[in-house]
Amino acid sequence: MRIESLRIKNYKIFKEIFIGNIPNMAIFLGANGSGKSTLFDVFGFLHDALIDNVRAAITKRGGFKEVVSRGEKGPIDFEIKFRPNPVEPIVTYNLIIGPDQKGIPVVKREILKYRRGQKGKPWHFLDFSEGAGVAIINENEYGLPDAEPKREDQKLDSPDILAIKGLGQFQKFPQIAAFRRLIEGWHVSDFHIQAARASQDAGYSEHLSPTGENLPLVAQFMYEHYQDQFQEVLNKMSNRVPGVKDVKATETADGRIVLQFQDGSFKDPFVARYVSDGTIKMFAYLLLLHDPKPHPLLCIEEPENQLHPELLRELAEEFRIYSERGGQVFISTHSPDFVNGVEISELFWLTKKNGFSIIQRASENELVKRLVEEGDLPGALWKQGFFEGAGPR
Ligand SMILES: Nc1ncnc2c1ncn2[C@@H]1O[C@H](COP(=O)(O)OP(=O)(O)O)[C@@H](O)[C@H]1O
Ligand SMILES: [Mg+2]
Repeated sequence: MRIESLRIKNYKIFKEIFIGNIPNMAIFLGANGSGKSTLFDVFGFLHDALIDNVRAAITKRGGFKEVVSRGEKGPIDFEIKFRPNPVEPIVTYNLIIGPDQKGIPVVKREILKYRRGQKGKPWHFLDFSEGAGVAIINENEYGLPDAEPKREDQKLDSPDILAIKGLGQFQKFPQIAAFRRLIEGWHVSDFHIQAARASQDAGYSEHLSPTGENLPLVAQFMYEHYQDQFQEVLNKMSNRVPGVKDVKATETADGRIVLQFQDGSFKDPFVARYVSDGTIKMFAYLLLLHDPKPHPLLCIEEPENQLHPELLRELAEEFRIYSERGGQVFISTHSPDFVNGVEISELFWLTKKNGFSIIQRASENELVKRLVEEGDLPGALWKQGFFEGAGPR
């Protein structure tokens, strides 16, 4: 999947922004409080709204009053244009959220529409407001000559449930179901080293969870089912973290799984609890990035923390490879070393103006573009102050 554009209205610091032509990997810079975390929270919000409902997603963020842009009544309005894969037509998802008469946040409008080619009329696969609407029942005829949409009235259990959730569980709406699965697969990282160090009850996990607490289980899964990928992770670990020869997930007598890091200099391994923060984090990232089934979208904040600056360019390249394998990658960073591994077409920066955030692209700055063409590294230019507005001063 690739998100091609994103429009946000009235969501916290984003009173009105549009990002078009979004690359497979997009890197966001900006001073503290410029909206980087909020941008990623947009994806977290949509994910939460789908998994639970709109009201729960709003409540988790302090209620509608906190979530709507200061001074605005709303509604909150998201529009995402994306391509499920390179050969499929562009799909637009529009979600508008506002309070009902009692002030409870509900879905004011939700539309999923497909457009094939520039001329074709878009088909609204679903169009809902406040729990009722219509959905197409002849999805598979879309794109056939002379086909016309056939619609059916549908009702949801509640006006704060997304129609992509309510209808996405039915066989007769395969495209809606596919879109629902895409959002379910979004990974908005909230990685905590302490959580990833802990042992886990024996079990089964294919993908690293957002906090990383299932790291031992994912390591075990990769070791058992994807030996080549796991070996590559180990090779990279021993290259990057001096002394680390092997990592094993082992079961303790009381049925828990712990990670053990083997140091080449000692006979007994160290359990995860006693290895360095950077070691745990590098191992977690490598497992995430070598996941045989990439997430359709991966959002990571400040990957540089706890890692040695010399490892960051390589890490940027690995994120790019991941993004080319089918997932899209959004990263925020404060690290010039990381940015040195990034193309200028992948760079964006956020600036706060009059209390609200605006987003600019590095490639639209002629001077920066020319200097990079002449061989300067983007991170170095940023450090020298060439990215106007992309720093605290
Ligand atoms: N409802 C809102 N309306 C306008 N601004 C908001 C709202 N809620 C939070 N903010 C602002 O958004 C900023 C949070 O930005 P954040 O995404 O955490 O920045 P970063 O991750 O770049 O440091 C804060 O400066 C806060 O003042
Ligand atoms: Mg932040």
